[in-house]
Formats: sequence, C-alpha cells, structure tokens
Amino acid sequence: MRILSLTFAGLMLAAITSPAAEKPPADHVKWMKDLGAQMGAIRKGSDVAKNATDMQATLKLVGAFWKTRSSDIAMKSCGESFKGAAAVAKAGDDKEALAAGMKMIGAGCKGCHDAHREKISDTENLIK
Ligand code: HEC
Repeated sequence: MRILSLTFAGLMLAAITSPAAEKPPADHVKWMKDLGAQMGAIRKGSDVAKNATDMQATLKLVGAFWKTRSSDIAMKSCGESFKGAAAVAKAGDDKEALAAGMKMIGAGCKGCHDAHREKISDTENLIK
C-alpha cells in the first residue's frame, strides 16, 4: 500500500513538473534557421529582394505547420512577417519602405517567439 501511494505520488509529481513544451520537429528548426539566415542577409543588404522572397516561401511552410495547432498568435505573427517580407521584396531603393517592412517582419518573429518559443540553452529551443 505504501509503495502504491508512493508510486502514485511520483506519478502526480511527474505530471505536474513535466513541461508542456515539446521538442520541435527537425523541419521546424530548419525553417527557423533559414528565417534567421534570410533576416541576417537582408540586414546586411545582400540579395535583399531574393532573401525576402525566400523568406515568404519559408513562412508559408511555417504557417502550414502552425495552422494545425490553433494558435491565433502564431498565425497572426506569420502573416505579419509575411507582409513585411513582401514589402521588403519590392522596396528596391526606397529606404523607408525597407525599414517599415523590416519592422513588420521583426514584429512577427517576436510575436510568435514570445508566445511559443521556449529557450532551454544557447543552442536549443522548444515549442510551447
Ligand atoms: C509562428 C511562430 C514563429 C514565427 C512567425 C517565427 N518563429 Fe522562429 N521560432 C519559433 C519557435 C516555436 C522556435 C523554437 C523551436 C525551434 O527552434 O524550431 C523558433 C526558433 C527560432 C530560431 C532558433 C532556431 C534554432 O533552434 O537554432 C531562430 C533563429 C528563429 N526562430 C528565427 C526566426 C525569425 C528570423 C523569424 C521571423 C522572420 C521567426 N523565427 C518567426 C516560432 C516562430
């Protein structure tokens, strides 16, 4: 009986302490690394239009993944970054349009990260 209740207590504890966050699928990590690289390239001003177009393609994959997870924040954030990337892609030499687009992209990244990214180390993140 004592063993049983101890086991039960252990199970309860495990249920309480186990994190709700989950390990992201490899594809998701890859898309994020791609977004990071695209963002970095745009900031540096290298191949801006191409990287912004690639970013839109990556965000479509991210959006399709999150669509099944019923998170309004995730979908809104994807859409915001997507619109920003579209604006950057056609900004050309218009520095103001570029800056406005970058702001929109960044707001989308941040919106979703604040809600759904759980950093567990410098190199590892979970989905929450
Ligand atoms: C719809 C939600 C969402 C959007 C939008 C989003 N991210 Fe993420 N991102 C996540 C989540 C969740 C993680 C943690 C899980 C992972 O790493 O896959 C993450 C992790 C990352 C990582 C770390 C990847 C690693 O493990 O090395 C980078 C870099 C990143 N995001 C960049 C970006 C950039 C740049 C943008 C905007 C252009 C962006 N993300 C937009 C959800 C999002």
